[in-house]
Amino acid sequence: MPEPVLHVSDLVAGYGRQPVLHGLSLHVDPAEVLGLIGPNGHGKTTLFRAISGLIPAWQGAVRFLGEDITGLRTPLIAERGLVHVPQGNHLYPDMTVLENLHLGAYAPRPRKEWRNTLEQVFALFPRLAERKSQRCRTLSGGERQMVAIGCGLMGQPKLLILDEPTLGLSPRLKGELRDAIGEIIASGVQLIIVEQDPEFLRRLTTRQVFVEEGLTRDDFVSGSLEHGKIMEMYFGMD
Ligand SMILES: Nc1ncnc2c1ncn2[C@@H]1O[C@H](COP(=O)(O)OP(=O)(O)OP(=O)(O)O)[C@@H](O)[C@H]1O
Ligand SMILES: [Mg+2]
Repeated sequence: MPEPVLHVSDLVAGYGRQPVLHGLSLHVDPAEVLGLIGPNGHGKTTLFRAISGLIPAWQGAVRFLGEDITGLRTPLIAERGLVHVPQGNHLYPDMTVLENLHLGAYAPRPRKEWRNTLEQVFALFPRLAERKSQRCRTLSGGERQMVAIGCGLMGQPKLLILDEPTLGLSPRLKGELRDAIGEIIASGVQLIIVEQDPEFLRRLTTRQVFVEEGLTRDDFVSGSLEHGKIMEMYFGMD
């Protein structure tokens, strides 16, 4: 068996003294696109923060491309090709689309090649090319999400982590974003994505994991993402 691209083992992390992840393990094999689903507040974002070095791992380990990255600082993790697009709006509102995208290419290799990558981002999101001189605070929610994903791509990721990219978007925009994410996958970038919409995840990902109370749920069968099943798991309803 080839080594997983990402291997999270027995991860414990949280805030203050309160653990949120209670020994969570997870892996992403080569060519896999992993989907995460689970109720609000059960640790999905916290998992991503711990993987990308934004908060420390209290116990356990994170390996990426065969190397231990536990405890590395976020920029060094991104430089290795593990790039995290956080949940919500984390753009610089008074900077333009172009300036925000440029910042995504801060690591040495992406910085050298930023013009080429920018062309690719604009090909994926033509609307951003049209609005490249616009300040981000004046963009629509959908456009901001495109900039956020674009910033992630500017870092030339091997594995891109997307945390609820379609939160609050209209069905039409959600469909547009799903197509764009499909193109990112087709271009050879691996993905971990959190989404609350089972159908969205089913169409984009090759395997799904259910996160509950800071752990992955062992009895969750990947590929069984039907609305009724998910409601049952969220709320214990039949
Ligand atoms: N900065 C923080 N300081 C203290 N507690 C936090 C912080 N961020 C998150 N938490 C707590 O950690 C727990 C897990 O939150 P997390 O954001 O990881 O959940 P989630 O599964 O991503 O939820 P959602 O689906 O709503 O995004 C929650 O109880 C939350 O209140
Ligand atoms: Mg979250």
